[in-house]
Amino acid sequence: MAQPVPCIVDEEGLESVAESITITDNRTGETFELPIVNGGVAANEWSKAVPGVWFYDPAFMYTAACESSITYLDGEAGVLRYRGYPIEQLAEKSSYLEVAYLLLNGELPTAEQYDVWRHDVTYHTFIHENVRKRFLEGFHYDAHPMGMLVSAVAALSTFYLDAKDIFDPESRSKQIIRLIAKMPTLAAAAHRFSVGMPFVYPDNTLDFASNFLSMMWKVAEPRFEPDPVLTRALDVLFILHADHEQNCSTTAMRVVGSSHADPYSATAAAAAALYGPRHGGANEAVIKMLTEIGSIDNVPAFVESVKSGGGRLQGFGHRVYKSYDPRATIIKRTADEVFSVTGKNPLLDIALKLEEIALSDDYFISRRLYPNVDFYSGLIYQAMGFPLEMFPVLFAIPRTAGWLTHWQEMLDQDSKIARPRQLYIGDDARDYVPVEARG
Ligand code: ACO
Repeated sequence: MAQPVPCIVDEEGLESVAESITITDNRTGETFELPIVNGGVAANEWSKAVPGVWFYDPAFMYTAACESSITYLDGEAGVLRYRGYPIEQLAEKSSYLEVAYLLLNGELPTAEQYDVWRHDVTYHTFIHENVRKRFLEGFHYDAHPMGMLVSAVAALSTFYLDAKDIFDPESRSKQIIRLIAKMPTLAAAAHRFSVGMPFVYPDNTLDFASNFLSMMWKVAEPRFEPDPVLTRALDVLFILHADHEQNCSTTAMRVVGSSHADPYSATAAAAAALYGPRHGGANEAVIKMLTEIGSIDNVPAFVESVKSGGGRLQGFGHRVYKSYDPRATIIKRTADEVFSVTGKNPLLDIALKLEEIALSDDYFISRRLYPNVDFYSGLIYQAMGFPLEMFPVLFAIPRTAGWLTHWQEMLDQDSKIARPRQLYIGDDARDYVPVEARG
């Protein structure tokens, strides 16, 4: 909720804004005072003062595109909170499904609310047989599971025609439950297809993470019993990935949603944004990098090559976090727990050496580059047996809760369709030249 513009009232009753910025248009000499609210200046106030002068901000590096009360992130201090709750406390004490409820509803559920929520999500895990048989099985045998997931999520909109009723609260809540519940089923189905294994139906007696592991790994046993340490580790990873305010994929969700597209189409767009190596594909890139380095002895030379422009240290650096990524600290602990069950990932020693050298090197210190959430998450996924191609899929499953929360918030804010301006730098008007007259 926007704060009212804070005002100071002087003895004569005249009001002035408590925090403001004054700009002078040097073309006219006019000055304008613009209020600073919640750390920002409203661009429409600016445009009233100097119409036709746009902010030039490719990649939205300095632009707040919305107000949001979902996730708080302080990149300087390394703070991340969902609805006010520190990520460290949620990772230690909560579960992914409870966090999804918290994100979507703004409050932690009561015991009864949680029971209803868990039941609803658990009983919407099945997908229409046509999605699997005709749609997913129609892909080429070596299709990337993330490509399959993006397409399958978009295709779901053709199965739920009521999804278009985005302002009907009942329909909206139904689609949100369906999306959160079906994501693991689609993800596991994409994996099973890519390795030629038969589809495993959801087991609604299992919790969210265990059910996903069952659909991934079950072979012929009557009931899949995942190791509780691995289930909990996966649930913690899901909590850490549930939301991260206005990142690339969430922005895609809000932008597509602002056209009033149905939530399946908007979620497919968000998942497509997550697919890229600069976003959800980074943990896959970390594993490839560590494999390429091959041994601890090669680490110093690799760091030198990065410093001299030979590529990036994958899993390092973040647009927002400039002191440390709080998720990386939690994930490092989770990695130790997972390795106590699975055995140590042989790439771990290379990763630790890389981190040690980079954190004491002026190149990385001066640019404020620290390990991000992806530096260790890939090592955990790999130790748990997930193939590299599944890494972005594993990110998309929990982020669905965050995307939908932002979608809902955006619709409730009665926002306009997203439509930025451009600074045109092309040719002036010129006349069409017939082909025979072109030089
Ligand atoms: N390795 C080496 N140098 C780096 C790295 C890195 N990982 N990241 C940034 N730099 C350097 C840049 O070369 C640049 O140096 P310069 O000033 O000498 O030109 C400086 O640090 C600033 O880099 P930018 O690209 O401007 O930073 P930006 O905020 O745009 O990029 C990003 C952030 C994309 C995450 C970047 O740090 C990166 O590519 N990291 C590796 C990929 C990665 O781990 N992505 C996962 C992000 S977390 C997530 O999506 C869940």
